[in-house]
Amino acid sequence: MTSYPSINLEKLPQHIAIIMDGNGRWAKGRGKLRIFGHSAGVTPVREASELCAELGVKYLTLYAFSTENWSRPKVEVDALMGLLVKTIRKETKTLMDNNIRLHAIGEIKSLPQECQDELAEAIEITKNNSRMQLNLALSYGSRWEIIEAVKKAALAGEDMKNFTAEILEKYLETTGMPDPELLIRTSGEHRISNFMLWQIAYSEIVILEKLWPDIRKADLVQAIEIYQKRERRFGGVEAVNSLQNLKS
Ligand code: FPP
Repeated sequence: MTSYPSINLEKLPQHIAIIMDGNGRWAKGRGKLRIFGHSAGVTPVREASELCAELGVKYLTLYAFSTENWSRPKVEVDALMGLLVKTIRKETKTLMDNNIRLHAIGEIKSLPQECQDELAEAIEITKNNSRMQLNLALSYGSRWEIIEAVKKAALAGEDMKNFTAEILEKYLETTGMPDPELLIRTSGEHRISNFMLWQIAYSEIVILEKLWPDIRKADLVQAIEIYQKRERRFGGVEAVNSLQNLKS
């Protein structure tokens, strides 16, 4: 039993992915610098993590910094990296309190050294936590991920002439994780923005109109309710719970 009676725990997504969008507009609307919006975006990161852990969602993936975000003004990139370092340091306790394991996907080696070190430390401290895995997508781009996966497969000596989806999945950043059943994007934008292109093949997409800094647990509960009312057919004609059920 959880504090969210409107959610059917039997039909809970195992993996939720979120494109956190609208920080800049949120700040602009208040006559502030964009970084003010990113700072205000930390509260919903905490709320989303706590909610998913409370409900029993096993994986939560947050799109925190894309490969394309490197083209933003240096002052914004530096401020975002600083915020990440500060937040990871400060929130490691929240992760421990909620038994959440931290993981990062993306080209982590392209992040500033301080950021890499902070991430590595938090990942090490939380590695035995088992209630949920929080994936931070950092310097992440799906096209980059897929190309890297193909290169890694070739280098590992996989049979490239008989290449399969299963082989590719072994080399994706998300290897071993279920695909997200639910993808949420905030700020009313209807775009995928190079996020988990392979993994969201059958995901249900829920767009929330609110800007990310305004998102609270109740908004995410609403997104899960919308997801639970949808009928998932995976290209077939009848409702199916998961792609595995369809295959078997
Ligand atoms: C998109 O809004 C948001 C980002 C690129 C950064 C997300 C970062 C945070 C929420 C800060 C904290 C995160 C963690 C994981 C500690 P935007 O800047 O594209 O907004 P706009 O579309 O209104 O310009």
